[in-house]
This record gives sequence, C-alpha cells and structure tokens, in this order.
Amino acid sequence: MEEIIVTGGVRLEGSVKISGAKNAALPILAATILTSEESRIRNVPKLEDVGTVYRLLKGLGIRIEENGNGEITIDPSGLNNSEAPYDLVKTMRASCLVLGPLLARLGKARVSLPGGCAIGARPIDLHLKGLKSLGAEIKLEEGYINARARRLKGASICLDIPTVTGTENIMMAAVLADGETIIENAACEPEVVSLSEVLHSMGASISGAGTRLIKIRGVTELKGMNYSIIPDRIETGTFMLAAAITRGDIKIEDCIPEHIDHITARLRDAGVSIEEGEDWVRVKGSPGIRAVDIRTSPYPGFPTDMQAQMMVLMSLSDGLSVIMETIFENRFMHVAELKRMGANITVDGHSAVVRGVPSLSGAQVMATDLRASASLVLAGLAAKGDTTISRIYHIDRGYECIEKKLTRLGAKIRRIKGGELLRGS
Ligand code: UD1
Repeated sequence: MEEIIVTGGVRLEGSVKISGAKNAALPILAATILTSEESRIRNVPKLEDVGTVYRLLKGLGIRIEENGNGEITIDPSGLNNSEAPYDLVKTMRASCLVLGPLLARLGKARVSLPGGCAIGARPIDLHLKGLKSLGAEIKLEEGYINARARRLKGASICLDIPTVTGTENIMMAAVLADGETIIENAACEPEVVSLSEVLHSMGASISGAGTRLIKIRGVTELKGMNYSIIPDRIETGTFMLAAAITRGDIKIEDCIPEHIDHITARLRDAGVSIEEGEDWVRVKGSPGIRAVDIRTSPYPGFPTDMQAQMMVLMSLSDGLSVIMETIFENRFMHVAELKRMGANITVDGHSAVVRGVPSLSGAQVMATDLRASASLVLAGLAAKGDTTISRIYHIDRGYECIEKKLTRLGAKIRRIKGGELLRGS
C-alpha cells in the first residue's frame, strides 16, 4: 500500500494551476446518460473518483474516449444496462448520481444502496423521496434501489436539507419529466449551477440554480454537450492553506475567486494576506496566525470539505478556536491523527476546541477520508521532521497530481510503496 512522506519546514513559493472540480465532473458525467448524442467534456480531472464513474458508465454500455489533456468524448448511444453495481457504489457514494438520469432516460434503474461512510451515515432518503414525488416507484431489495417509472411527472419538491447530490439527482430526473418541477430548499453550490448550465446547453429548460428555488420545465429529449469543467474550489482552498501554513507565497491560477469567498474571508480574519484577480488568488502567509472560529454550512458558508484543512492552520494559531461541523456528524476523524503530531484539540459533540501550539512534529499517521488526508499533508508541510501518511489512496480520489504540484512549490514530498520510492521530490 502506498504512503506519502512529507518533510516539513519548507516555505512554499511559486504558482500552481487548479484542476477541474471533482464534484462538478461527477454529476456532469452522469448527465451524459440523458441523451443518445455524443458529448465532449474538457478540463476533466484525472482522479480515482472520475475513473470510478468511467467504469460505471462503461458498464452501462456508454463509450468513453480519453483524447488527452483532460478532454474526453462520451458516446452514450449504446446505453443498454441500468445497473450500478455494489462494487462501484461502495468505492464512491456519488455513483448514485446515475439514478435520476437512468430513470429519466430508460424508465428504470437498479443502483446499489450506498452504505455508511467514514464521515457520517449519509443517507440518500431525500434523493429517493424526490424521485418518488416525480412518480417513480422505488423498492429497496437485497441492498439495491430498484426504481421504475413510465415517464416521470413534474412535481413540487421541498428538500428537508439542501442536499447537493440530492438536488443534482432530482434536477437530472426532472429535465425529461412531463411538466414543471419546482425544487425548494435546493443546494446552491457552484457545482449545482455548473450542472444546470450543462443541462441548459443540452436543451433543458431550467432556471434558479444557485438560489434555493430551482424551476425545471421537462422536455422530451436532450442533445449532446460541449463543456469545460469548472475549477475545483476545494483544491483551491487547500493550496491557500498550504501557503498560509508554511508562511509561503503562492499564486493559485485558473481558479474562480468568487467560489471561495468564505474561505478567503476566514483566512483574512486569521491574518493571512490574500490578493485576488479575475481567475487567480495570491496567498502570503504571515508569521502570526490569529485564532478564528469556524462553522461549516452549505454554500455560500464555510465548506465542510475545508474543515479538516482549516483545523491544521488553527492548530498553529496564537489562541483558541472553536470549529463547529454542522453538515456531517462524524467528520473529526483527523483529530486523533493531528493530536499524534502534537496538536491540542478536544472534540465535544459537533465542535472541536483547538488550542494553538507553537509547532507540530512529524509522525506516522493514517488518512481516514479524502479531506482528512489533505489535512495530514498540510500538517506534514508545517511539522518538524518527517510525516508518513498511510492509506493515501483517499487523496487520489480528489486531488490531481498532489505531490507533483506541491513539489513544484518547493515541498519535500514523496510517495513510497513498501519502502520503494515511486515519485521523488
Ligand atoms: C456533496 C459533496 C461532498 C460535500 C457535501 C457537503 C459531491 C459528489 N460530494 O456530498 O464533497 O462534503 O456535498 O457539501 O458533490 N442528507 C440526508 N439525506 C439525503 C441526503 C443528504 O440526510 O438524502 C444529509 C447528509 O447526511 C448530510 C447533509 O444532508 O448530513 C448534506 O449532505 P449532501 O449535501 O447530500 O452531501 P453529498 O451530496 O453526499
């Protein structure tokens, strides 16, 4: 099993280009099911999770060609299967994003029910409730969701929680439904807006994405798309933290500063200097980090996907910070690992009290989920000595070429497999 070794203490400097957003790419790839025409998608990040969707779509009879440079061509004309098997869904919960499109296009879907996950129970009851409102008949049998519908019918759906993939699943089902669908309390994340743009370009009639109220008027068929995936705001935030934590100076290019407003605001509160351009941000770390409180919340609030990374910065602040996690009930798995590196953190229910320490020290730690693994890399960059991170496969799910990008900024980071060096620094 691969491990990453980070030798800390280097100030990171230079520029880095942000890759396409994982969470935008996944629903957009699923949306190709909605048409029989070919689509061309650009800026697709090379990630494990994207590979999982490719396997899933290929299993459905869809042809995918990688043209190089992050461009792919998808030909869904051979769609002949409606099953998302357990083996794929268990490695990536977002596989359930094919449920809405399969139902809309084929009138049936058999999708493995995702189980719990390291960060929380993560049910998909709201996806299913929404699809039932659109007229789908849904049965849970032998660990699978068996869904059927002749033609879905537009409906008014009010989500109890503004679920991101739930909103996306319902949007994709509703675009081919008969009549108007209204989604109230919809998720406003940029990835939802991006999916709406894609669906619009395919011929869907859809408005309100980015607000809590989305309106969709169903059409009978959709055409192929030609789209470039938006930059990853969580990767952007992670590199901003890398600059702040190492007191470095990094220009982060090909990003959308507006998507990270809340991260920028909190970092400025912490004393980090940030300059913004149209598609870049430049982050300069300062010697003293002020403690700030963080509360995760749906967009445009502070993203739960940046909570672990921000906790590392707060571990090195000059005071006491309270970090409240409001989205997932078990998203503090990284705390035990950060404590092994010398962080002073106490968890009480949904809050973590972080008392800043002057420095962290390298240790052997274990990644527990995708964003936790990024937080351990950040902690390693700031720590004295070597940090060895195991179960690093988590990071490959969501960060493209993380060691290469960090190495170019001056980091001492390398990947090993059973003692053998895979990529040097
Ligand atoms: C998406 C993101 C993930 C991010 C999360 C929150 C993708 C592929 N993943 O995940 O990176 O951390 O948004 O910003 O885009 N819930 C229910 N019932 C449901 C659905 C959700 O109770 O049917 C709950 C969840 O358990 C959680 C909350 O709603 O507590 C928000 O989850 P949700 O927005 O659905 O997260 P995902 O879409 O899975």
